Amino acid sequence: MTDVLAELRALRAGDLPTHGGRTLAYVYDSGLAGLDELAGEAHALASSANALDPTAFPSLLKLENDLVAAAARLLGGGAGTVTSGGTESCLLAVLAARGDAPEPNMVLPSTAHAAFHKAAHLFGVRPVVVPADPRTFRADAGAMAAAIDESTVLVVASAPSYAHGVLDPVAEIAATAAARGVRMHVDACIGGWVLPYFRRLGRDVPEFGFAVDGVTSVSVDLHKYAYCPKGVSVLLHRDAGLRRGHYFASARWPGYTMLNTTLQSTRSGGPLAAAWAVLRKIGDEGYLRLAEETLTAVTRIRDGVEGIDGLRVLGEPDSTLLALAAATDEFDLFTVADEMRERGWYVQPQFAHESSPVNLHLTVTAANRGSEDEFLADLAASVAAARAAGPVRVDPDVAAFVAALDPDTLTAEQFAGLLTAAGLTGGGAPPARMAEINTLLAAAPPALRERLLLEFLGALYRP
Ligand SMILES: Cc1ncc(COP(=O)(O)O)c(C=O)c1O
Repeated sequence: MTDVLAELRALRAGDLPTHGGRTLAYVYDSGLAGLDELAGEAHALASSANALDPTAFPSLLKLENDLVAAAARLLGGGAGTVTSGGTESCLLAVLAARGDAPEPNMVLPSTAHAAFHKAAHLFGVRPVVVPADPRTFRADAGAMAAAIDESTVLVVASAPSYAHGVLDPVAEIAATAAARGVRMHVDACIGGWVLPYFRRLGRDVPEFGFAVDGVTSVSVDLHKYAYCPKGVSVLLHRDAGLRRGHYFASARWPGYTMLNTTLQSTRSGGPLAAAWAVLRKIGDEGYLRLAEETLTAVTRIRDGVEGIDGLRVLGEPDSTLLALAAATDEFDLFTVADEMRERGWYVQPQFAHESSPVNLHLTVTAANRGSEDEFLADLAASVAAARAAGPVRVDPDVAAFVAALDPDTLTAEQFAGLLTAAGLTGGGAPPARMAEINTLLAAAPPALRERLLLEFLGALYRP
């Protein structure tokens, strides 16, 4: 037994650190001592119980109702469902809105999370993508209103968007959606558990929950700024009738009548119990303090970045997320990301999209409080190193070749060859320095980049 755990620990040691604020994407760290242990024990107590049947496991029913009630208190009410994460919450919001519409579409700002494109793909809802404001990166409420037609089943806004951390004009968008009788989803997956506390701390945060007329559903992830172990999000609807569309029943087989509230059927009680314990342990005052630490950290990092020659912050971020762009073409941000990695920090490269240039994403959490100066010093040193290295040079012929490839006509073998040429082979760990690969990927049109990375994923997932 101990050997198995030792092996697991050794494997985990090769991962990015999930604590200490050094990984500024994917993970959320409260920095609170003992929280992991509590969550782990709570998870173990319920992980074998199955939320598939709440009458057989009434404890899980209570845990879920408590989690939904806590989310509803923060976001202004509603009937809810606990899901496995932000993507599932967004998927279910789209599914519930789709109903039986013959050729449904949904109006999305171009900054909406990719989860909505996944929903479009899965559920046959056409995405009508409306460019965000090219300077502020906020959704353009007027253009979104103009894009609504008689087949529109849902309009989406973010609070805030992942890529730039800005709040969309929720009230304006909701007003037009309501006037047209269309549902409106607010994706507060990443902001829903921290922005209400920012407001209590005196920040000017516009309402984005059910206090806004016309908002019909809101998603908030507990595995983000509620600092719960992964696998928990809440989807709230203004009333239970709106939720009905993502419930599913089937009595058309000889087994139990399958009754599901989410995409899953068997559903572990583990994440529910862990989240319930974490919420109880941290409590409302605890979340207020964590939000205060996060606000201090993100403000200091933002101010510090503005003092680093060659970097700028995109837009006017409202929350805990920053997107750092290069203010000059004398160096490459992909190299900065590599240099940061060598200094023990993970910052997430984001490719250019519409008016948004290549940038580095930072998800700042409470655990970043106290090490802002160290982060900024390493960032400045990384920029200096990237400047010294000069921009990444990819052979122009190779870049042109890649840019001209048509993903629809390439075979799996040709892709395998390309991946090998790009250094993206399946076996072993990915290369430590990614700047050249990222530069090549950046040169590829989105459809080709999607296909290349999917082939790479397929190569990774081979025992
Ligand atoms: C705004 C927003 N929506 C949806 C998601 C998807 O959440 P998940 O990764 O939990 O599926 C995220 C993740 O960062 C997000 O920031």
